[in-house]
Amino acid sequence: MEFGERVHASQHPLIKHKISLLRDVKTEPKKFREIVREISIMLAYEATCDLSLREIDVTTPLAATKGYHTNERIGLIPILRAGLGMVDGIWELMPGAEVWHIGLYRDHRTLQPVQYYNKLPVTPTVQLCLVLDPMLATGGSAVATVHILKEWGAQRIKFVGIIAAPEGIQALATAHPDVDIHIGVIDERLTPAPEKPGDPPEGYIVPGLGDAGDRQFGTG
Ligand code: PRP
Ligand code: URA
Repeated sequence: MEFGERVHASQHPLIKHKISLLRDVKTEPKKFREIVREISIMLAYEATCDLSLREIDVTTPLAATKGYHTNERIGLIPILRAGLGMVDGIWELMPGAEVWHIGLYRDHRTLQPVQYYNKLPVTPTVQLCLVLDPMLATGGSAVATVHILKEWGAQRIKFVGIIAAPEGIQALATAHPDVDIHIGVIDERLTPAPEKPGDPPEGYIVPGLGDAGDRQFGTG
């Protein structure tokens, strides 16, 4: 399936390598968290390639020269829970970023996002919001989060995720065509509603990696 120019699926070999480790059912939570952190750093690096810069003067031991400072105020917006694991690595890359949490869970029956946490201040304090969530499945959680940020007044929003289903990309790109989507890999499909006992629950990414929150926090 072809998506628009705002959808960026990483082609980086290290990301492909690490996502394969992440998928492996034998990967334990400690290792899983490490890999989520590493992949997140690489995805954030790709997602911030168009940050604006301001010229500065720098004096090296040898000469005066021109240098650059990034001058965009960045907000990291992890979607609880699973997005939490993406924060620390990215925060090391950009220690001046603000972190604002949005709490949403997906209702298991309806697959609709249910909001339970939002402590955004009254007016926006950042210029670029990076929404962090490893999984973009139906897209409901990401669409709702971007909606919350736009209501808040956010001007520039990018979604950074690790694995997406085509359905989730389509939903997010349709609801918010102005949002860049940076994703590690686009998978095949979502699971349908179960027909018999033992079938996986509906709305999981295939092949995916299972439940990203449970696998990080050891709660599965
Ligand atoms: C997972 C994941 C996303 C959401 C994706 O969270 O981290 O937030 O599902 O699904 P969607 O694209 O269909 O909305 P979940 O709802 O399981 O909550 P948790 O992280 O608290 O376990
Ligand atoms: N949330 C997850 O954690 N995994 C999926 O495959 C879909 C939604």
